[in-house]
Amino acid sequence: MNIIENCSLLEHNTFGIAATARRLVEYSTVEELQDFIRQRNLEGDRTPQLHIGGGSNLLFLKDFEGTVLHSRILDLEVIRDESEEVCVRVGAGWVWDEWVEQAVGKGWYGLENLSLIPGEVGASAVQNIGAYGAEAKDFILKVEAVDLQTGEQRRFSTEECQYAYRHSIFKAELRGRYAVTHVHFLLNHHFRPNLDYGALLQALSKNGVEAGQVDANLLRRTIIDLRNSKLPDPKQLGNAGSFFMNPIVQRSVYERIAEQYPNVPHYDVDAKRVKVPAGWLIEQCGWKGKALGRAGVYERQALVLVNLGGATGHDIEVLCHTIQDDVRQRFGIEISPEVNFI
Ligand code: EPU
Repeated sequence: MNIIENCSLLEHNTFGIAATARRLVEYSTVEELQDFIRQRNLEGDRTPQLHIGGGSNLLFLKDFEGTVLHSRILDLEVIRDESEEVCVRVGAGWVWDEWVEQAVGKGWYGLENLSLIPGEVGASAVQNIGAYGAEAKDFILKVEAVDLQTGEQRRFSTEECQYAYRHSIFKAELRGRYAVTHVHFLLNHHFRPNLDYGALLQALSKNGVEAGQVDANLLRRTIIDLRNSKLPDPKQLGNAGSFFMNPIVQRSVYERIAEQYPNVPHYDVDAKRVKVPAGWLIEQCGWKGKALGRAGVYERQALVLVNLGGATGHDIEVLCHTIQDDVRQRFGIEISPEVNFI
């Protein structure tokens, strides 16, 4: 177990906010985490605790006056290997994209469209990360977790995780209660590309590749190039990927917008509801490439807020609220942050 008192969180949040934690605890096994919980209970420690992954979805508004927990569990175990499918148990501490790279390299297919998403495996199961027509839940079979109050282990089936768009039970009624320690993924031995996302086919055909010719490595490469072309590298420009979720609105709301903007991009959710890209709404409000002090809106993707250098969490929060107000006034739509404010 690695314990650091008064730890800087600069390297633990991709926004690059200079907050500190009273204590950072990194554990490498379930037993180490359980020891920590036992000790904490013995001491009657009631200070707040926060479990982080890669820190790619966090905004620190102030220093954290408690313990920040971080998993370094790096297990990788094939549980079941059959002719069609393979089930792999992966430690929560794996960097997500290193796990995707391993999987593709071993011929375990399915995760290609989720290449290069920042963060770690544990958080992928909390956040139900998604991109380019795929979501983590499509491949998660079960989740192992530890109760942060009692230290008890519990397994969650995919149904019990209550997955939806960027949502799970770990973000709702069980928020802060469990630490995910392992995720079981069910992947395919046969590669079947998921090319449903429009921009993906366009990117492939731009490189002279037809849908029938694509292999897993090429698909992964294409996704990586697409992400790099739209999303800033947090090492160069602090950010947390999409800052807002794409709002799901009643069809009548979408139709009202479409009267004025016939080309408004949208995705049908069901017969009654439509998803409208928040990036488009924000761009229409004139925010793309603009800034408010040290907090900015990325010039190539308006859904991404960036730290232009030395921004505080408060600076980003002010920009967030200003954008929300503008979108509400102009379109009557409420956009909610995907990022967690701490
Ligand atoms: N758009 C604009 N202006 C912008 C940004 C987007 O008009 O500034 C339009 C695009 O032209 C397109 C539509 O909005 O028609 C959708 O844009 P894009 O394909 O870039 O995807 P997104 O909806 O903005 C979502 C995810 C991303 C994921 C991409 C690709 C959310 C909150 N975000 O973004 O996820 O990579 O789709 O699948 O669902 C993340 O969660 O951190 C993230 C990066």
